[in-house]
Amino acid sequence: MNLITKIAGREFESYTLNASVPRASTLKELKQIGQSDSAAIMMKSCTIKKRKGNPLPRIFKLPLGYFNSEGLPNLGYKTYLEFIPKLKKYNKPIIVSVAGFSVDEYKILVKAFQESEVDLIEINLSCPNIDNKTEPIAYNLKKTEEVLKEISYLGKKPIGLKLPPYPYYSIQQKIANLIKKYSVSFLSCVNTLGNSLIIDEIKERSVIKATRGFGGLSGQYIKPIALGNVRRFYELLKGKVSIMGMGGVKTGQDVFEFLLAGADAVQIGTAFVEEGVSCFQRINKELKSILRKKGYSSISKARGKLKIS
Ligand code: DHB
Repeated sequence: MNLITKIAGREFESYTLNASVPRASTLKELKQIGQSDSAAIMMKSCTIKKRKGNPLPRIFKLPLGYFNSEGLPNLGYKTYLEFIPKLKKYNKPIIVSVAGFSVDEYKILVKAFQESEVDLIEINLSCPNIDNKTEPIAYNLKKTEEVLKEISYLGKKPIGLKLPPYPYYSIQQKIANLIKKYSVSFLSCVNTLGNSLIIDEIKERSVIKATRGFGGLSGQYIKPIALGNVRRFYELLKGKVSIMGMGGVKTGQDVFEFLLAGADAVQIGTAFVEEGVSCFQRINKELKSILRKKGYSSISKARGKLKIS
């Protein structure tokens, strides 16, 4: 059985790929992803200028995930532009993830990658860890539309949005309307749950220093809200926009749940950081075994087939 799927009209050899995490920053790391069973090479979100990121400690391991406020450490978009030709030999889609601090910055970033050999462009509108004053753009409909208005006609390559977890439906309806209006081709859904706080009760301290102790929560803690967000967008956008689900995927069973909810592919963040590139082969194997046992002959046969109790 194969796990072939399509995202924004591009064929993906399998259903799982890496999420845009710090472990996807350097050329060496991206080449390792190229050689692995990841369906695509997703790069760490990049900004106009190289960034060191937030002061340490900025990441904390939890029993079921991570808590982080990295502050977008990356090598700067020009370096990722240079990486693209060096990753072509792996013959799988290359996805860039861009993060701007203004509409103009998003324009510069998207234009540059539209003119490159990258396959898909993920617009990260949901990094929660920059400061404690402004909300991630995707929580602000007006700002989201401002960005989309300026970037959606800069070239022919498919663009997608990396979205935060939405805790209520009405904002998803409004975001879905913008997605349709500006011909967004795919979603990466969901980013970490921002505004979280982990406290070391013995030391009476926050466990990270960055952003005054607040940060984004990932891993199995956020799987239910990730599944809920994927399902809602699947219902709102059925068929027209590809959805890459993400949030707490560790096993083939987790992936199967995202498939039932309606995801076209699944990104793996926390488990990839923990386990390295071998996670894709393991998880794909587990997924195949579940599909076989349940009598599904392909990904498309099970996609969105959630029954309501
Ligand atoms: C960071 C965290 C995110 O969730 C994201 O989407 C981008 C960057 C970070 O802290 O570096």
